[in-house]
Amino acid sequence: MPQRANIPDGQAILRVTDLVKRFDGRAVLDGVNLEVRPGETLVVMGGSGCGKSTLLRHMIGSMRPDEGRVELFGHDLAELSEDRMDLLRKRFGILFQSGALFNSMTVGDNVALPLREHTNLDDDTIDIIVRIKLELVGLRPAVDRMPAEISGGMKKRAGLARAIALDPEILFYDEPSAGLDPVTSAEIDQLMMDLSGKLGVTSVVVTHEMDSAFRIADRMVMLDRGRVLKIASRSEFEAIRDSAPSGDETTDLIRQFLRGESQGPITRRRQDTGYAEDLLEAADGER
Ligand SMILES: Nc1ncnc2c1ncn2[C@@H]1O[C@H](COP(=O)(O)OP(=O)(O)OP(=O)(O)O)[C@@H](O)[C@H]1O
Ligand SMILES: [Mg+2]
Repeated sequence: MPQRANIPDGQAILRVTDLVKRFDGRAVLDGVNLEVRPGETLVVMGGSGCGKSTLLRHMIGSMRPDEGRVELFGHDLAELSEDRMDLLRKRFGILFQSGALFNSMTVGDNVALPLREHTNLDDDTIDIIVRIKLELVGLRPAVDRMPAEISGGMKKRAGLARAIALDPEILFYDEPSAGLDPVTSAEIDQLMMDLSGKLGVTSVVVTHEMDSAFRIADRMVMLDRGRVLKIASRSEFEAIRDSAPSGDETTDLIRQFLRGESQGPITRRRQDTGYAEDLLEAADGER
């Protein structure tokens, strides 16, 4: 079982306050405020380039805010020494796009890596833990396979086994189902839900896949232009998705996004964007 965070009821496990991040003078995150509650799955949504991955990088302390702060387990990440940050890293797991396995190591060795780096456990114990983690994600038979020999879905699962190797209290996922077929994607969703349901792991999930988002989320947050447009329960977002257009610009923008429609405030805004701005954005995209 994961070591439980020492967090009083109702308090946040992660808190983002007035977070601003600029690249080349442009604010990609422009005053983000949100909190993640113990045990919940928070889904982060928003258009491509709106800053979701950047937000995630701040949450795990791999990027420093220009303004504002990120507190994980009650610690301001910007104020932690590298040693303290290392200790904190043991308490969270990350599953980034493509699983990010080391190709020169077997699946088993990939999962063993954090255990070898962060614990003093002997090889036999590590071997047992690796098999338990692989069993949890349905991949025990693949322990001796090389990453190149397994499918994309299996890589994701192996990445997940590695992310949970140290029994994290919170897991961060960046597009866990991107590029997977619908069934494999549903299987990954089920795994994520099992981890939160059975082990009580808190999750922050960036995803574009709306089916998946509505399956796994307790709460959802929609980012737009570097700000939080709305943060609310899944049922509130479901109500917006399933309602008729409201005439309210923000609600209709969220509705268009959730429904994946080609007409609506998002499209109108793009059309309104000036030609010069458009070219600048295109140039941005090339980088
Ligand atoms: N290290 C960086 N240096 C400069 N610009 C960056 C850097 N990282 C991200 N950006 C820019 O910040 C913006 C947001 O990027 P980010 O990767 O957070 O978007 P995203 O919401 O995750 O998009 P996607 O859905 O396509 O993954 C983009 O315009 C991107 O080009
Ligand atoms: Mg991204």
